[in-house]
Amino acid sequence: MINSATAIAHPNIAFIKFWGNRDSELRIPANSSLSMNLAGLVTRTRVTFDPVLTSDQLTINREPASTEGMARVKMVLDLVREMAGLSCFAQIASENNFPTGAGIASSASAFAALSLAASAAAGLQLSQQQLSRLARRGSGSACRSIPAGFVEWQAGFDDESSYAYSIASPEHWDLVDCIAVVSETHKPTTSSEGHKLADTSVLQAARLADTPARLERCRRAILERDFDSLAGVIELDCNLMHAVMMTSSPVLLYWQPVTLAVIHAIHNWRKSGIPVCYTIDAGPNVHVLSLAGFADQVSQLLSRIPGVADILIAKPGGPAYLE
Ligand code: PMV
Repeated sequence: MINSATAIAHPNIAFIKFWGNRDSELRIPANSSLSMNLAGLVTRTRVTFDPVLTSDQLTINREPASTEGMARVKMVLDLVREMAGLSCFAQIASENNFPTGAGIASSASAFAALSLAASAAAGLQLSQQQLSRLARRGSGSACRSIPAGFVEWQAGFDDESSYAYSIASPEHWDLVDCIAVVSETHKPTTSSEGHKLADTSVLQAARLADTPARLERCRRAILERDFDSLAGVIELDCNLMHAVMMTSSPVLLYWQPVTLAVIHAIHNWRKSGIPVCYTIDAGPNVHVLSLAGFADQVSQLLSRIPGVADILIAKPGGPAYLE
């Protein structure tokens, strides 16, 4: 019997970053993290288990996937097959409506959508916590794209205890992420490889020791809708992660000259009274956070900076869901 399901998931932007794994196979992170789902940006994934197939088949944006991509997807499918007692192969078609691999965490929405579509196609009805744990196995940050809105991933210490949950709904706060797209090319070092280098930086231990305090500040800033407090803590957290990256061996330097130009501009705009701050993932793009009422002004200002190729605007997004 052929069984298929289609799921949609949003990428997320981390306000408190996950960098470094305590267990890289199970993807148990070195620290807890906190993020916001990005509405309007989506990965849509269809999974079909079909007895006539002789191997798993994967297309991403209608192109056959790389061997590395295929291996990670197969690992998640194998977990689903084991849970469902299923032995047949699957056809997976995944599409993003935003640039892949340029710091907009396409792997987060991809593995969240895959986990939901594959488990539903296999006839499983997993809880949100189980789905979050399954998505984590494909890409750590994917566990945060399962629940809605503002999401915390408790690091935990084993497979059962490491999952994400919502701390506030998308409607809780009218934040907006104006993503300054600097480059649409693929990043040179994937985050999976990058996590392995975290402990080569002497700064990683200091970053980890202070993470519970930053998490608490960030959680409170969100719950109290305190933009100034959010701005301070997310820029600090971003800079700490990039300081670890820049002092790793080999060095990981994701910033481009235009990344730095955007950072300087944001500091000036904030001084002039605009509620605006930045965070950057493992890529050159700058996620510029502001309040919905300032989105047009911020995106106009960003568009005037030479080297900003495009601007994507996202409000807080909902959970992963079946179509
Ligand atoms: O989920 P991964 O393995 O792609 O790692 C994500 C790493 C960062 O995006 C840099 C930080 C984060 O918490 O999302």
